[in-house]
Amino acid sequence: MSELLNTLKALRAEPDFASADDPFALFGRWFAQAKEAEPEYPEAMCLATVDEHGMPDARMVLLKDFDERGFVFYTNMESAKGRQIMATGKAALTFWWRNLHRQVRIRGLTEQVSDAEADAYFATRPRGSQIGAWASKQSREMEDAQALKKAALREAARFGLGEVPRPPYWTGVRVIPLQMEFWHERPFRLHERIVFLRDAPDAPWRRKRLYP
Ligand SMILES: Cc1cc2nc3c(=O)[nH]c(=O)nc-3n(C[C@H](O)[C@H](O)[C@H](O)COP(=O)(O)O)c2cc1C
Repeated sequence: MSELLNTLKALRAEPDFASADDPFALFGRWFAQAKEAEPEYPEAMCLATVDEHGMPDARMVLLKDFDERGFVFYTNMESAKGRQIMATGKAALTFWWRNLHRQVRIRGLTEQVSDAEADAYFATRPRGSQIGAWASKQSREMEDAQALKKAALREAARFGLGEVPRPPYWTGVRVIPLQMEFWHERPFRLHERIVFLRDAPDAPWRRKRLYP
């Protein structure tokens, strides 16, 4: 019992999380801490979408950019996720930072980043990845085990020593949050959950505390 009381006292001593009123600023703080605490892929996030039958789908992607407009990852828009996003205009993201005992969940609307933004990011990628983006028909059935390697060699020969432009189907998707939930694991399952909600991207945030 005294262990429980001590835990409750300690919880009150953490104002940072409990009193936050700007979810983007709070995400920024947690993400900066995750980059320090997580040896691998603090930017990895599970991206959930639904297909045209309402069947959920989920896979990992990497967060490449983040600001008050939303959370950006890059992909092939002809992939399963790309087609699902184009059909619904919606997606959800989940981060789990193991060493920090934290989870962030985001639900929102999607938009493609501008061509200039996608070009600028594509230009920073290693040449092999740029060629890979041309070679992979992401999510489509591969004819045989060598097809991807053959396509990569073909694309490498096609571009020679010249610059590799961004494929038209390869771009960034920004998830514009309507909901952001911050979860922090606590002893005795007294986890804290704070959720920020808004009705539209230009509407003010409301804040709620949820039972864990
Ligand atoms: C840690 C990790 C990071 C990944 N990052 C990306 C990414 O940023 N973009 C991407 O298109 N696929 C990424 N992938 C691959 C996807 O999980 C997925 O296999 C691929 O995009 C095809 O998904 P889809 O068929 O649902 O469209 C990543 C996989 C892992 C394990």
